[in-house]
Amino acid sequence: MGKLRLGVLASGRGSNLQSIMDAAKAGRINVEVAMVFSDNKDAFALERARKAGIPALHLNPRDFGSKDEYEQNILALLHEHGVQLVCLAGYMRIIGKVLLEAYPNMIINIHPALLPAFAGLHGQQQAWDYGVKFSGCTVHFVDEGMDTGPIIIQAVVPVYDDDTVDSLADRILAQEHKIYPQAIELIAEGKLKLVGRKVYTKQ
Ligand code: GRF
Repeated sequence: MGKLRLGVLASGRGSNLQSIMDAAKAGRINVEVAMVFSDNKDAFALERARKAGIPALHLNPRDFGSKDEYEQNILALLHEHGVQLVCLAGYMRIIGKVLLEAYPNMIINIHPALLPAFAGLHGQQQAWDYGVKFSGCTVHFVDEGMDTGPIIIQAVVPVYDDDTVDSLADRILAQEHKIYPQAIELIAEGKLKLVGRKVYTKQ
């Protein structure tokens, strides 16, 4: 079986992208990162891709008249690189209908909280401010909502009394780097079954 071709969309530092590229390179996951795309030309994620010899692509949303037009151009890049699964890794834009319709249940995201708690921006800060004793991270399918799609994997981390929001975010990030490649591998192996909004793992 050929390798599943990934397109990773990132807006920032790209540590999750790095964990995916590292897992692919080490053969821990049977995928190829076919391209990396950013809406931000200065994203360090693009630098990481270039270093790994992976096409690093950027389109400025301001150069397009509408979200649909922007996404049609992203879609052309995804198709050009034969992308089968789209992985959002710190991509700071809501995915619209052009990409959702082109990749039904083939767009996934990582969120730094235990969804459905603390959706949206700064999930770690929201959890810390709220005073929860446990938080974590979630890999989920992307739908039209904000962090609302079916949940694939979650990891839980404790919150300690002497934590700062940064130490909590670091503990969560270490888990993100584990579960995102795991979720991708489950999809690459065809092991996930989606029933309603429940995701089952086939044995
Ligand atoms: C991560 O915390 C991820 O959960 C969230 O955005 C952050 C991206 O970090 N969606 P990085 O760019 O992968 O380092």
